Amino acid sequence: MNTAHKKGLFITLEGGEGSGKTTMMQQLAELLESRGLPYIATREPGGIRIAEGIRELLLHPDHTEMDIRTEALLYAAARRQHLVEKVEPALAQGTTVLCDRFIDSSLAYQGYARGIGIPEVLSINAFATEGRFPDLTFYLDVKPETGLARIAAGRGREVNRLDLEALQFHHKVREGYQRVAAMYPQRIVMIDAEKRPEEVARQAKERLSMFLQEFSTDLSNK
Ligand code: TYD
Repeated sequence: MNTAHKKGLFITLEGGEGSGKTTMMQQLAELLESRGLPYIATREPGGIRIAEGIRELLLHPDHTEMDIRTEALLYAAARRQHLVEKVEPALAQGTTVLCDRFIDSSLAYQGYARGIGIPEVLSINAFATEGRFPDLTFYLDVKPETGLARIAAGRGREVNRLDLEALQFHHKVREGYQRVAAMYPQRIVMIDAEKRPEEVARQAKERLSMFLQEFSTDLSNK
């Protein structure tokens, strides 16, 4: 991993619906804070005005006619703007960036689950990011049934028919993530998110600690 050209660390969180990314974000942020490392927390798609606008287009429930390649291009466009406007300037200042979702979401959702192809989606994203990859990625691996049940419980309702119709898709997303994780074993840390949230958080913090130690000389020189 080559971090010599940059200052802050770029850390991303990935996972399917209900995998616990939000809780994990808070836990990792706490760790960075306790180490006195400057950081920002952000998310995709969104994080800045133009990308939030694209997010509206992408996630609007009325936009049922959206073509899957249009969808992939819009995610890549939102990613580009967010990267240029928010992520790169922060990294350049020595600020660590914690980002909820990044390129691996596109590879798993658009590339694999929607069936465009991981290499095809990778190539439009290589254009969008000019080859910028995270330094470290946590992928929270959870069965779609578990994730869905967590979401339903949070909303105080049972899993309904529509949720179950989507189950097939979420299985494909998980399979996609597992393939992407196998493509980047150095960068992507897979965490079993079926476990209790405290255990999941403990594991992720431990990995982040190790990672920070590895790069402490690098960081303290900036
Ligand atoms: P969001 O409400 O932020 O979901 P979550 O809390 O699960 O992150 O919605 C983001 C949705 O967009 C989510 O369903 C995953 C999807 N997505 C993609 O399909 N491709 C992408 O590249 C990204 C960043 C997100």
